[in-house]
Amino acid sequence: MLVLGIETSCDETGVAVYDTARGLVAHALHSQVAMHRDFGGVVPELASRDHVRRVVPLAERVLGEAGLALADLDGVAYTQGPGLAGALLVGAGVATALAYALRIPAVPVHHLEGHLLSPLLGQPRPEFPFVALLVSGGHSQLFDVAGVGRYRLLGDTLDDAAGEAFDKTAKLLGLPYPGGPALAALAEAGVPGAVKLPRPMLSSGDLDFSFSGLKTAVLTLARKEASGAAPDTLAPARKADIAREFQQAVVDVLVAKSVAALATTGRRRLVVAGGVGANRDLRARLTATVRARDGEVYFPDLAFCTDNGAMIALVGALRLAAGGAFDYSFVVRPRWDLASVAPVGV
Ligand code: KG4
Ligand code: ZN
Repeated sequence: MLVLGIETSCDETGVAVYDTARGLVAHALHSQVAMHRDFGGVVPELASRDHVRRVVPLAERVLGEAGLALADLDGVAYTQGPGLAGALLVGAGVATALAYALRIPAVPVHHLEGHLLSPLLGQPRPEFPFVALLVSGGHSQLFDVAGVGRYRLLGDTLDDAAGEAFDKTAKLLGLPYPGGPALAALAEAGVPGAVKLPRPMLSSGDLDFSFSGLKTAVLTLARKEASGAAPDTLAPARKADIAREFQQAVVDVLVAKSVAALATTGRRRLVVAGGVGANRDLRARLTATVRARDGEVYFPDLAFCTDNGAMIALVGALRLAAGGAFDYSFVVRPRWDLASVAPVGV
């Protein structure tokens, strides 16, 4: 079963073809990072307009690289939400129109289900059940995953998500957008333990997160060190020390809560997904900690940690193969709880 997947929820246009027999066939991505950089963040209207420009040429490219014609497709999957309403409408509109013209199903996909199942694009593939740590720009959540569409929320963020905390902290230190990767790169040069920041909710006894206090702690510390001047005036080496400790604090909390989630559910496998899953320190620490407990940890390939079309094509193909009714009406869901998606194969 051959499915074209279209991702337009935020600032990347992603298109891919996934085959249930062969796996990922082709994928292409256009990132809008350069376009939004001057504004210090994503401008929703510009994002939508750029998706309009990119999506059809990307689809043509992907089909061309795969040596496929539109007539070969069995379905078109698209991100229905969560995300920016205007950006989502572009992908939903194009995918549904294409599916209607081809008389094949249009399959709406939850963006976070795409992230959560993205490790299935790689080898070895994690088997169900597993615990998933979903750490993206908008979410820090732990799920118990019994199968496709069977997600039980174990823990959630009470305020900022991990990626959001990375982005906001980077911004206040004067780093360029997108802040997460820039802060992580700067942290490499920092001296461990040179400054001290809190580990929020580390001992809260539950599986929830809170990262906004950490960002405020950085602001307070940086202001003090800059003697009242703006935090971004600090010397680069000092910023690196702060970045190192910030990253360490986030990783400490994510690792501790992931291990606690494995313990409470009795699962052995941990799957990590979402943009922050690209963080090298997090990958190294989780790998060492979970293996020391005789468990297994799975990460998506780096290319599929951040937004991409491959994960949408994958989920679309899994859902299409499982059957069900699809039609050509569509709504987008800018806010959409992952635990509420339809289960598959039960
Ligand atoms: O999953 P994603 O592409 O978008 C959402 O669905 O939200 O995640 C983007 C987030 C951003 O907050 C970005 O700063 C963060 O992932 N991120 C990182 C790294 N790479 C991306 N955070 C820390 N370290 C990284 N290497
Ligand atoms: Zn995402």
